Amino acid sequence: MLDRLGAGRRLMDRVALVTGSARGIGAEIARAFHEEGARVVVTYRREEERARALARELGDALCLELDVTKLSSLEKVFGTIDECLGSLDILVNNAGHLAQEPFLEITEASYERTLDTNLKGTFFATQAAARRFEAAGSGVVINIASVGGQFGGPKAPHYSASKAAILALTKSCARILGPMGVRVNAISPGFIRTEMIQHLLEDEEREIAAGLPLGRIGEVGDVAAAAVYLASDDAAFVTGQVLNVNGGQFMG
Ligand SMILES: NC(=O)c1ccc[n+]([C@@H]2O[C@H](COP(=O)([O-])OP(=O)(O)OC[C@H]3O[C@@H](n4cnc5c(N)ncnc54)[C@H](OP(=O)(O)O)[C@@H]3O)[C@@H](O)[C@H]2O)c1
Repeated sequence: MLDRLGAGRRLMDRVALVTGSARGIGAEIARAFHEEGARVVVTYRREEERARALARELGDALCLELDVTKLSSLEKVFGTIDECLGSLDILVNNAGHLAQEPFLEITEASYERTLDTNLKGTFFATQAAARRFEAAGSGVVINIASVGGQFGGPKAPHYSASKAAILALTKSCARILGPMGVRVNAISPGFIRTEMIQHLLEDEEREIAAGLPLGRIGEVGDVAAAAVYLASDDAAFVTGQVLNVNGGQFMG
């Protein structure tokens, strides 16, 4: 049955770049794509050792340093992929920065880091990928947004604003790139057990879980499964959509 549905080869030989994939959701998406046959490019900003260990786990995957806030860094990574792998089929804009801080205390530096990582990084990585996808006549972009961008998370307004902007960017790019054969979708996770929200879960896991219709915190595999679906031909007629992976926290 599994074989008939094509499990294990839904992304066979596709080249996938996952930004911020040394840990957390990005690392699990990289693993899931690899299991489906993709050639994954792992990227790290600070955690080179962790990223290299993951790359080894994925059969000596290409492992590159990438700071998505810098165009020069993005250009270098896309150039290396051109040289080493010759094509790109899937881009996952996963790299993200969350700083939970009171609105009145947010500095210009914190605002810029948040917006530059989440929005500028997604924007220019998508632009670089689109150049390759246009030439190929196909491609997939998956943007990792956040439930905070949908209902206005109260603890990190700069983060929420950046994630809301990603949802608008997703829809604009779906319209612009659709005629080129490129699909652009977003995944909007709720509470997912990663280092990003570790501090929150240490204090409030039971309370948070109790407030969700499904009664539990999400796991990285929940998001990775959604990413595999959107990246695969199973989603061939799906573009400009937001796939909520949030245990029912927000329904819209
Ligand atoms: N966990 C959740 O509950 C949740 C909920 C909604 C949305 N999300 C989103 O899911 C995505 C993955 O987050 P996560 O939960 O897996 O958190 P995480 O464990 O903190 O991972 C975030 C990754 O992004 C990388 N990153 C940060 N700034 C970067 C930059 N300028 N350039 C390149 N990489 C950068 C980090 O690397 P460095 O540390 O080396 O910078 C890290 O590997 C993010 O977009 C996040 O906003 C998470």
